[in-house]
Amino acid sequence: SETRQPLVVGNWKMHGSHAVNEQLLEALKAAGPLPAEAAVCVPFPYLAQAAERLARSPIGWGAQDVSVHAQGAYTGEVSAAMLADFGSRYVIVGHSERRQYHGETDQLVADKAKVALAKGITPIVCVGETLAQREAGETEAVVKRQLSAVIHTLGPCVGEMVVAYEPVWAIGTGLTATPEQAQAVHALLRAQLAAASPRAGQMRLLYGGSVKPDNAKVLFAQADIDGGLIGGAALKAEDFLAICRAAA
Ligand code: G3P
Repeated sequence: SETRQPLVVGNWKMHGSHAVNEQLLEALKAAGPLPAEAAVCVPFPYLAQAAERLARSPIGWGAQDVSVHAQGAYTGEVSAAMLADFGSRYVIVGHSERRQYHGETDQLVADKAKVALAKGITPIVCVGETLAQREAGETEAVVKRQLSAVIHTLGPCVGEMVVAYEPVWAIGTGLTATPEQAQAVHALLRAQLAAASPRAGQMRLLYGGSVKPDNAKVLFAQADIDGGLIGGAALKAEDFLAICRAAA
């Protein structure tokens, strides 16, 4: 896989507390050198804690969403500038839970990726099909449509983002895409990116959906899988670090 440094990102979703995070962050920080770049995407109220605890560690941090607006009367929203203010390196955009429960459209997701990049934050753009879509043979069309909105909106900057393929049916279900199923989609995504950016070969494409210490290695060994976006297993330091080490 050319010269891409693997990336493993923990998506904490709506989990944690000040006390619980303290232990998790300290354990991550105490880990020695890892073969993958590692980062955690935490709930907004804990960004300051992550920034404080992970400062002077190689582990990055960021958020799970960002407002599409720069500033102003948008009650409850958090801007890209605010995320940058806390030293965020990454922000997840277009997670299927936001598409499903908050009605986020392909275009909104693309616009969010754009505002993040404009503030120097790398968006981790999530794409993926539902079980019904997979069974109807629509996987390729769905991920292509989702990615295409981002490609058109970012233009030449598209090479700066990270893409995460998360089949919705594999999220939190214990059902993982087989390495072959995941690789097939990743190859499609990279081909689509290659038509848009000369940097496609250097871009990191992550797989997400029930990645655990025991299945990470074979997934990460696929030619176009450059790491993972980890939900449940990112809440245990031991598991998250084992997944990072599987990227060797
Ligand atoms: O963003 C990561 C995620 O959706 C996968 O969650 O719990 O299946 O690893 P999980």
